[in-house]
Amino acid sequence: MLIAAIETSCDETSVAVVRDGKILANAVSSQIKLHAQYGGVVPELATREHLRNLLPAAREAFSRAGVAPADLDAVAATQGPGLPPSLMIGFQAGQAFAYALQRPFIGINHHEAHLYSPWIAGGAADFTAFEPNISLIVSGGHTMLVHVAGELSHRVLGATLDDAAGECFDKTAKLMGLPYPGGPELDRLAQLGNPGAFAFPRPMLKDAHDDFSFSGLKTAVRYFLRDHPAVIQTEKGLRDLCASVQAAIVEVLVQKTIRAARRCDVNCVTASGGVTCNSALRRDLAAACRENHLTLRLAEKTLCTDNAAMIAILAERKLLIQSPVTPLTEEIRASWPLG
Ligand code: KG4
Ligand code: ZN
Repeated sequence: MLIAAIETSCDETSVAVVRDGKILANAVSSQIKLHAQYGGVVPELATREHLRNLLPAAREAFSRAGVAPADLDAVAATQGPGLPPSLMIGFQAGQAFAYALQRPFIGINHHEAHLYSPWIAGGAADFTAFEPNISLIVSGGHTMLVHVAGELSHRVLGATLDDAAGECFDKTAKLMGLPYPGGPELDRLAQLGNPGAFAFPRPMLKDAHDDFSFSGLKTAVRYFLRDHPAVIQTEKGLRDLCASVQAAIVEVLVQKTIRAARRCDVNCVTASGGVTCNSALRRDLAAACRENHLTLRLAEKTLCTDNAAMIAILAERKLLIQSPVTPLTEEIRASWPLG
């Protein structure tokens, strides 16, 4: 089966072509540099950029894949959740494309695509290895734990009640004067820092439920900087602060994920979304899974951030298992809870 997918839910314009679970092309045009000047994503600018970048991304994807639109069996696009004007560009383009080609159209839930992205390795999906798992989806907009009992059968156990973990990385980095998006920069600086240098709260770590809360940690960093402004004036102080904040976020994510896996009696843990690029999270989740005899599948770094390949792979699985077709009269679903 040959499928093309479009992803424009936030600030990445992406078009991918997938054949029988294999990624033939995954063109991603990032807007990070544009939004960096404003310290965050500006929806109007994102929409304009999607309009500008979508056709070049589509041409690049088809050219790299070496296929023509007429060869496609189906077209997919992210239907939600996401920024409404951004979503509209890719979703309506996908609908128009499917209509012009007279092919089935599938609207995909962005989080569901992240959820199954750890099963893609080396450019191809491998669902033969699938086993029930606890999945951590952790990005700039969302942090959630999901029990995936079977392929395409999942239930959200908990989610953040306020800021997402990526938002916490970005906002605390901003307080330290680091450039947007702060997560990767904080990760880089933390690598030579001491994670035990400063004590920060581990929100909801001891609570038995699977929800998260990161806004209090952000406030703790704000007060810390108010009381100790000199810390970030030295390279060592800044690195230690980054490592200490990162340790607090990562410990909560890792321990709550392992606890959910134990409680739900699964043997596998997966993780996806932009924050899964974080080196401490990858390292500590791997160590915790080893200790608890759990298999770990981390989404590959290029597939952690937003991309259309994960949308196309999920659309293909859905076509094979459920045959879902999204009527062309449907609209975007800016708020679309997973499951
Ligand atoms: O999944 P994603 O590309 O977009 C959303 O759907 O939000 O995730 C972006 C988020 C940002 O908050 C970014 O700072 C964070 O992922 N991120 C990281 C790292 N790389 C990306 N956070 C911590 N460490 C990283 N290495
Ligand atoms: Zn995402």
